[in-house]
Amino acid sequence: MKTKFTLALIYGSAREGRFCDTVVDWILARLPDMVAADIVLVDPADLIAESRIVRAEAESRIARDLARADAFLIVTPEYNHGYTAALKELIDSFYRPWWGKPVAFVSYGGISGGLRAIEQLRQVFAELGAATIRETLSFPHAVERFDENGDVRDPERTIRQLERLAKQLSWWAVTLKAGRETVVLEEVA
Ligand SMILES: Cc1cc2nc3c(=O)[nH]c(=O)nc-3n(C[C@H](O)[C@H](O)[C@H](O)COP(=O)(O)O)c2cc1C
Repeated sequence: MKTKFTLALIYGSAREGRFCDTVVDWILARLPDMVAADIVLVDPADLIAESRIVRAEAESRIARDLARADAFLIVTPEYNHGYTAALKELIDSFYRPWWGKPVAFVSYGGISGGLRAIEQLRQVFAELGAATIRETLSFPHAVERFDENGDVRDPERTIRQLERLAKQLSWWAVTLKAGRETVVLEEVA
């Protein structure tokens, strides 16, 4: 039997009218069949709040969701050859929940498909003690890769790549979950 884990799927954009929703929705329609995981959504847009109280409430909810996650999947666009300020704000608002857990990336954008954003994120997550996954899925010229119903135009190839990513992420999620249960974090970090 496959070991069950919790996966936090994180939006990489907080922009009004973001394309991120299209990519996340497409993934959400397929990922549950690929991983033995409960999936929880984490959205940096929730941190953009008009009052401190609303922001504090969002922060504590996200803190809980990140803490119970065994793995993260970040769906990131590329902004000016990097990732978004909203995603950095989310990452920097929490320190401990990333440690000893795997992070995988799906990226999208223009010509580079968001790969430069991913490479920057790998540096950030190294500092946070997370393990970034080799396998990625990226969508160059993303708007053209999806039709008006939000379906990918070349589903077979894309689904195969998402499956590869999901397999690797699951392996790391289950392996590092066992590791964290064997050696407590405070002993090493
Ligand atoms: C401020 C800004 C900068 C961008 N810079 C890049 C870039 O450097 N490389 C790229 O491939 N696409 C770039 N794009 C295109 C975005 O990756 C693309 O529009 C994507 O859909 C944005 O994601 P979102 O709609 O979910 O926020 C940029 C878009 C914006 C708004």
